[in-house]
This record gives sequence, structure tokens and C-alpha cells, in this order.
Amino acid sequence: MTAKEIREKYLKFFENKGHKRIPSAPLIPENDPTVLFTTAGMHPLVPYLLGENHPLGKRLCNSQKCIRTGDIDDVGDNTHGTFFEMLGNWSLGDYFKKEAIEWSFEFLTKELNIPLEKLAFTVFEGETENNIPKDEGAFNLWQGLGVKPERIAYLGREDNWWGPAGSTGPCGPDTEMFYWVGEGEVPEKFDPSDKKWVEIWNNVFMQYNKTADGKFEELSQKNVDTGMGLERTTMVLQGKSNVYETELFTPIINRISEISGKQYEENTKSFRIIADHIKASVFILADGLVPSNTERGYVLRRLIRRAIRYGKLLGIESAFTGEIAKVIIAMYENVYPELKENQEFILNELQKEEERFLTCLDRGLKEFEKINMPIISGEEVFNLYQTYGFPLEITREIAKEKDKEIDEKGFQEELKKHQELSRTASAGQFKSGLADDSEQTTKYHTATHLMLAALRQVLGGDVQQKGSNITSERIRFDFSFERKLTPEEIKKVEDLVNEQIKKELPVVCREMETQKAFDEGATGVFGHKYPEKVKVYSAGEFSKEICAGPHVENTKTLGVFKIIKEEASSAGVRRIKAILQQ
Ligand code: ALA
Repeated sequence: MTAKEIREKYLKFFENKGHKRIPSAPLIPENDPTVLFTTAGMHPLVPYLLGENHPLGKRLCNSQKCIRTGDIDDVGDNTHGTFFEMLGNWSLGDYFKKEAIEWSFEFLTKELNIPLEKLAFTVFEGETENNIPKDEGAFNLWQGLGVKPERIAYLGREDNWWGPAGSTGPCGPDTEMFYWVGEGEVPEKFDPSDKKWVEIWNNVFMQYNKTADGKFEELSQKNVDTGMGLERTTMVLQGKSNVYETELFTPIINRISEISGKQYEENTKSFRIIADHIKASVFILADGLVPSNTERGYVLRRLIRRAIRYGKLLGIESAFTGEIAKVIIAMYENVYPELKENQEFILNELQKEEERFLTCLDRGLKEFEKINMPIISGEEVFNLYQTYGFPLEITREIAKEKDKEIDEKGFQEELKKHQELSRTASAGQFKSGLADDSEQTTKYHTATHLMLAALRQVLGGDVQQKGSNITSERIRFDFSFERKLTPEEIKKVEDLVNEQIKKELPVVCREMETQKAFDEGATGVFGHKYPEKVKVYSAGEFSKEICAGPHVENTKTLGVFKIIKEEASSAGVRRIKAILQQ
């Protein structure tokens, strides 16, 4: 079965069970600084899991683009990748365990035709400390479907608990489904630690909300959140031992071989790292992020640079990432049209980053050669990072190849010293922080809508939101505009926002067809794929935006709006930092 067939079968199956298909949300979460990238299909659905009404109802399904960077150093082995697609279905306070388990069973055994003897399951063993019971319900449901008890294992929080995606939010016990990839007889008894049992699907029973003080509160509704890894499922169903040998990677691997003149079989690690990292980079770029030295932009930079270095190890001398990107765009453009729509931007950004890094890579490597000591000092690692643009993992890898060690602790100290210096030199007024105070974050969210409307009034209707990052302490907002704002323009934007706050505008949410929302002049995030129906938040007549919320009920609670910084973010994109003063 091909990946394309699995993806389509899954979505059709759940549509037939009353689910509405929603587009993949962008990889860069909006208004959520607690995570870098979308790591699971549930992440963009958090407001609905917490009880807001979704315009398309209580049953949803999709194929979500995800990035997990936690194990970037492990990329290249059989199972770790940074980009993957997650097939998911959700119940937003509708069906619960029984249907979720029965439908998973039906899909696995009837649609994917997996013989029952190749399947095993885990369920949550309970936790007295947080008063969360053993999930006998899930155990009994599997058993009732014909699964032998020796194929169901009880496991604890480490394995059978999922979420929240950030530091707070919806989470719950889960039940996971495993497929036997070994040869010969399948063992009668399921041993979850045996690597021949590969996890392919996870059903989370999201009935708790983790609060900022670490408590688990019962949610007002019981949700189901499931995730099936498309790459892994394709791999096991095709009897392949790793995802790189499925058609989700082979065209990329073949192109790398053509460009380098090298064989995959002799250079698996380099091939896999290049394929994975360029694929992830293409998808991130398609969602509008550019490489930079901070946060998300730095993850993107690390991915691109690590791929370039492995290209060099394969003997590729000139720029090649764009050539790989073209193959990836062609592979995925039917499912994720944003790749083709943004092809020029993607190729352009890759080329710029490759040019930047290639010029310092050779010089940095020469610098490396000069180091005679067996342990590379923190200052030297920092110098490679700062002067030659070597991300830490690249230095670590090169050092390892040369049988040297690096002083990582010393590097972190150098980095901290440097960051403290630049922090006091610039935005000394505010502390950075996470969205831990949701009331304040909500205020900032509404203020962001007012600010965008004001920017469009002052600077023109071409101004588009390019990204936002809101914490309980400030707004950081990127938008398209070619030049620096004048002090007069900044003042005008502030005044306009503050006028709306004083007018005590009601903030109203309506659900409508996406087309109608645009026809009515609602703004949305550029390049974002919206489902057929959306929520539109209006603040009086002043602002109207497609948005999932949440927002304050009236602008009067916002306080005084102030722009504290305006600067370039990247070419054609400006960045504003703004605060609310009470
Ligand atoms: N959110 C769940 C996961 O990522 C389904 O495994």
C-alpha cells in the first residue's frame, strides 16, 4: 500500500464516521510561544479541546504537518526524523473511548488489512499520586474486540500519557497500537520493550487540563485525540526496515545520489540527514519562516546548515539544497499546495542561506584544523559558532570525527555571557517569558488584532501578518512592510489602538464560510489554508480577523497600548514589540 493510499483511506474512513476533513495547520503555531513548532495534529485544536465550539462540529480529521526537533542528533538512524505527517481524528466532547478504540481496530484490521496476530496494545496503568485511575476500560474494550490479554500491556506515564503539547493544556492517558516487524512467528506475549514492536498509532483520551502549577483538572468535556505516523505506518506495511526506503524518501535519496555521484548504501547517514533536514526546511519555509539566529529561525538555520555540511562530506562542492527542494515540492504539492505556491521564496531562502554558510564553512573548517588540543575549549566552540556560523551540533560532530571532545558547558557559559550582554544592550524593559498567565495573554491577543488593523490603516492595506508570538508580557509581531516606520507612524498606530480601547468596543465571535469571511473583508494569515468554515473575531467595526481565539469580551480591559520596538525582521518584513500598561 502506498503512503498516498494510506493517507486517503484514513481520511475517507473517518469522513464516513461523520468527521469533517480540515486542512493541515501551519508548522509555526500562531500565538503560542510555549512550543517552537506544531508537533502534533491536536496542537492547533487546543482551544476546541478546552471547550470552544469548532465551526465544523465535534468530529474532525486531517493529515497534519509536524516537526519534532528534540532528537535532531538522532536523525539518520532508522526511526528518527524531524518532519513527519500525522494522520489524526478528533472528538471534541463527542464520542469517547468505545468508538475511538472500535474504529481504530476496524481501520487497522479491515482497511489496512493487518492480521490481528501482528498487533499489540498498551494502556495506562494509573497513577495514585495524581488520582488518575488504571485504564481498565480501554483494556476491556480491546479484549472485547478479540485481542488476547497477553497482547495488552499496562504502562505508566512515561509511555502511556500524552500532552500537553506545551507546558500547560489538554492531556490524558492514551492507548497505543503496535505492529510486529520481526520475521517468523510473532511472540504470543507482547513485550513493549522489544524494538520489533513498532508503535504506529496513539489514541489519547484527553480529559485533563494541566495547569501552570502542575495540577491535572478534569476538563469540561471528554475528548479523543489520535495520531498515526504516516511514514512509520507506510514503512511497516511495506515491510521496509526504515522510512528512508519508502516512496516518501526514495525520490529525494535518488536525487542526492545523482548530485553527489555517491551510493546511498555506502553513505546512509549523510543521505538520510540531508533528505530529512531539507524536507523539514522546505515545509518550514513554505509557512513563511526564514533562517535567523533566534528561536524558530535558528532551528531552521541548523537544519539547513547541517544538511549542507553532510553534502560536503559527500563531496558536493556547489550549492545543492535547491535541487533537493525541487524534488520535495514536486512530491508533496498535491497534498500541501503551499509548497508550490511558495516555491520561489523557498528556493531563494535556501540559496541565500547556502551561500552564507558555504563562505564561512571552509574558513571554519580551517580554524578547526588549527586546534591541536584534544578538548576544544568553550571559547573556541563559541568562536566557531559566532564567527563561522557553526551550530553546536556541527562542531560536536566534526570534533567526534577528529577524535576530539568539546567543552559544551564552557560553550553554554560563553553563550550566556554573550546573550546577557546583548539583552542589557537592547530590550532591557521586559523579561521574556512563556504564556503562563492566560488572562493577560488573551488581552495581548486582542491587542494584536487592533494593532494589525491600525497598521493597515496607517501603512496601507498591503500590510500582512507574517507571524506573531504572544506571551503574558508582550506582543512580538511580524508583518510585511518594506521600510522602517517613522516615529509619527508609530505614534499614529499607538493612538489608533488606544482610541479603540477607550471606545470600549465589544469583541464578537461569529462562525461563517471562509469565503464569506474574506468577502466581508476579514483578514487572515497570509498563505494559511483555512477550513471551509471559520471563526471571525470583530472588535466593533475596527478590526475583523479569522482567528481561533480566545479574546477578551470588550476592549476596555486592555489598558494602554505601547510600541516599545520596531525593527527589521528579514527582507521586506518588520517586527514590532509592544506592551500593554495597566
Ligand atoms: N497527540 C497524540 C500524539 O502526538 C495523538 O501522539
